[in-house]
Amino acid sequence: MTLLLLCAYAYRITGDAAHEWIGVCVFVLFIAHNVINRTWYKTIFKGKYTLRRAVMTACNAALVFTFAVVLITGLLQSRAVLAFLHLPGGMLLRGIHTTAAYWGLPLTGVHLGLHWGMFVKGTRKISGMNGENRARMVAAKVTAFLFAAFGVWASFDRDMFAKLFLGFSFDYWDESRPAVLFFAAMLSIMTVYVFVTYYTLKIAERQKMLYKSNMFSELEVISMKTALCYFSGTGNGFDLAIKLNENITDSSIFYIPNIDINVLNKYERIVIISPVYCFGVPIIIKQFLQSLSNYKNKTFYGILRFGGFSGNAKYYLKTIFDKNNLSCNNIYTLQMPENYTLSFVPPEKHIDKQLKKSRITIELIAKKIIVNNKDRIRKNLFSFCDRIHEINASKWATMSKEYFTVTDKCNKCGLCIKICPAKNIEMDNENILFKENCLACLACYHRCPTCSINYKDKTYNKKRYVNPHVDLNKME
Ligand SMILES: Cc1cc2nc3c(=O)[nH]c(=O)nc-3n(C[C@H](O)[C@H](O)[C@H](O)COP(=O)(O)O)c2cc1C
Ligand code: SF4
Ligand code: SF4
Repeated sequence: MTLLLLCAYAYRITGDAAHEWIGVCVFVLFIAHNVINRTWYKTIFKGKYTLRRAVMTACNAALVFTFAVVLITGLLQSRAVLAFLHLPGGMLLRGIHTTAAYWGLPLTGVHLGLHWGMFVKGTRKISGMNGENRARMVAAKVTAFLFAAFGVWASFDRDMFAKLFLGFSFDYWDESRPAVLFFAAMLSIMTVYVFVTYYTLKIAERQKMLYKSNMFSELEVISMKTALCYFSGTGNGFDLAIKLNENITDSSIFYIPNIDINVLNKYERIVIISPVYCFGVPIIIKQFLQSLSNYKNKTFYGILRFGGFSGNAKYYLKTIFDKNNLSCNNIYTLQMPENYTLSFVPPEKHIDKQLKKSRITIELIAKKIIVNNKDRIRKNLFSFCDRIHEINASKWATMSKEYFTVTDKCNKCGLCIKICPAKNIEMDNENILFKENCLACLACYHRCPTCSINYKDKTYNKKRYVNPHVDLNKME
């Protein structure tokens, strides 16, 4: 759609008839885009407004308005698509049409900038470029920066300020210049807005986190004996529990599969540390919370870590607390390296960056917990993900034994049998066998020292992931 939009600006090059038909195509795609993302409209008055969401809502509303104006004024002066109507047109309509259309350029840039992180991740996944190649990554960043710098020059060259604020309705293009320069100029102008939005929000969110961190440091600490109960396949949860333990005095760490729930009686505050599995939580977390239904007098917290997109998992976990009548003060989410790499590209080089970033968030979460921070946990924009979770629950909650294959590199070390939290693996006549109680934690897959355990035939050449900051042998 963005490429067609750029073509629509090139009416001096394409001619008026092509301009109108390109415009029609842009609108068809615009409507399709809106239909696909219709939940945005449904949830507009629901949930909490973060800075990002507020900017997104304002930008989207402005885009819808702008596109509507461009469509209406475009149709009213059509000479090709609606030629048979012989509409009068006029300079005023033309002025409104072009001014609104030019506003579409920065607004589309801001819109893309708000989703840039998602776009980059998606491109990496599809293309298989996982940031392993540092030179390639630096080259991509430098190119993008130079292109944006070109966009600043192009903004002056194309007289963008006048087009946006003075309502110029004429756009001249010197025909001696190559047409490709026009497209490059328009794309680069949009890139400027993508850049500015992406980095401004990144900086603002970071500042907000630091501000919050200072704010919570000033509140009174409520001393409580705290149990940090975690479930983990590849160590992110263990890492998180250890960091919290360092920041919360009088706290102890418990590994959920091995926990004796009677021990928790001594604790006043219980923190459930869970991974996000298919926009929800692993079945073991649901079962664990059910088993705690006698602990209604305790103060609960939830911490969910996710790899790429947590959907509405926070609210989903809240409903599980509610069903078991457990009072949960708050649930926090944080991003840690993705371990569901069966069908995705393993995170590789981003691991360090992500873990460094997660440390700052963990410190903030610890500060919130020790002051007994309480907040309303609301549904977010992605509440439809709950449905996806429920529909697929039976598929992802357990990995069927047929999905696992063990290659002959297996040296029968027995580690997978030892670490499986569901006691789902056994050795029979020197063969590794899987049963049907799998929790889909992927510990066996990632931690097998010879990478012998595979998911169907899809993972033979894939790198495995384990959190590099923890000794996974101590995870028990
Ligand atoms: C079966 C499975 C499903 C997952 N589903 C999601 C998901 O829906 N969204 C997401 O962002 N991450 C998902 N992940 C990634 C994990 O939540 C994330 O990598 C987490 O930090 C792993 O923690 P651990 O190292 O303690 O096991 C999934 C991981 C697994 C194994
Ligand atoms: S951990 Fe790997 S090498 Fe060891 S027994 Fe299991 S499959 Fe074989
Ligand atoms: S079989 Fe593997 S993936 Fe399943 S629960 Fe055991 S360790 Fe986790």
